[in-house]
Amino acid sequence: MSKFRLRRAGGLFTLAALLFVAACEAGGDFPQTTFRPVSELGEKQNAVFYNTTWWTVGIMVLVEVLLVYVIWRYREKPDAPRPEQIHGNTKLEITWTVIPSIIVVLIAVPTILTIFDTQKAAPEGALRIEVIGHQWWWEFRYPEEGIVAGNQFYVPVDRTVELRLHSADVVHSFWIPKLGGKRDVNPQPAVTGDREPHTNQILFTPHEEGAYTGQCAEFCGEAHAIMRMVAHVVSEAEYDEWVEQMRTGSTSADMLTQLARTPGATAPVGDTTGAVAGDSAPPRTQPQVEPPATEQPLPAPAPAAQQVGAIRAPTGLTPQRPPVPAVMVAGAQTDAELGREVFLSKTCVACHAIKGTRAQGALGPVLTRFGTRPWVGAGAATNNQANVEQWIRNPQSMKPGTLMPGAHTPGGGMPPTDLTEQEIRLIATYLRSLK
Ligand code: CUA
Repeated sequence: MSKFRLRRAGGLFTLAALLFVAACEAGGDFPQTTFRPVSELGEKQNAVFYNTTWWTVGIMVLVEVLLVYVIWRYREKPDAPRPEQIHGNTKLEITWTVIPSIIVVLIAVPTILTIFDTQKAAPEGALRIEVIGHQWWWEFRYPEEGIVAGNQFYVPVDRTVELRLHSADVVHSFWIPKLGGKRDVNPQPAVTGDREPHTNQILFTPHEEGAYTGQCAEFCGEAHAIMRMVAHVVSEAEYDEWVEQMRTGSTSADMLTQLARTPGATAPVGDTTGAVAGDSAPPRTQPQVEPPATEQPLPAPAPAAQQVGAIRAPTGLTPQRPPVPAVMVAGAQTDAELGREVFLSKTCVACHAIKGTRAQGALGPVLTRFGTRPWVGAGAATNNQANVEQWIRNPQSMKPGTLMPGAHTPGGGMPPTDLTEQEIRLIATYLRSLK
């Protein structure tokens, strides 16, 4: 390679490196950058990263400059004298042993201090959230608040949060880059006697409101790539409001209106057990904060065939609303309300839980307030009517490997749900109304 081409290649490399660094640093919309942390954990980890990076960049530049200089200065020339040989020079060897040792100490000490600092026990008043990784979705339990959320969770700004991470199946990895780094989510070991189950922990204090996305960061099976989540950092007031909504459950707005207009109808309050749906976690020590258990205001039980028949009657192509079965007149008239009845009468409830209903399944994602989520299928697609319908119809088409069965396709060892197009539309409408 000629001297000119060598220099040009070197110049291009430097330019590319500078552009890369500038792209990482210079604002722009990088929702999952680690360079702009929004929590003190992220900042501490970033400080360690920069400390290591600048030392190593300095070493690289120094070594490369010396190397290039020596290659150039002592290159072979006709009649040039043999350069001075320095092999065995004690002073030099001591120097280049001591300097790197000092640099190692300057990198190691802050790193180790940060490890201990970020692994310490949660302070008094920290918000504790149990995070459970599932193939392929995230569950967030708030033991003190008595709520469970799926694939997205809320935390108040400036309050320390303690995440306790474990898995329901295989090893996952929890990572919301802007909040701070990545930790393994291991299957929980069996608990014997009084021993606390050992879980990994992340402690962070977010200081900037916003919605921060993340995902599973360790290969955990076929749908690993679609195991996303959102952390919402909100004001204290907004957080309290969210907790209240998650606690009261699934009542959609139009249903409330409808119920208000219906004399004698009771608004749904709490779920029948009051317990966290599908509870496989250690028992809660906090007293129950929910309203006392009440019967669900489900319409009088109708023969299944009658309900289904009534809903199925018009074909999916008919734009008009299906006739309302007599048993539903009291509580359910909108599509969302009809969708609720279909949902609760079908196998959906075997896997999914919705607070405020008798749906208590624990295999699939919790669907409480599903309408507020940005995605369907833990990041498989945007949460809109068409996508939710397609998800119910054939989830494998959107997320290969998902354990949910479709209307005509089995999934996760379960048979097809056999839902009709009409039922799919109603269920999607109901789920999206849960806001
Ligand atoms: Cu869970 Cu990858």
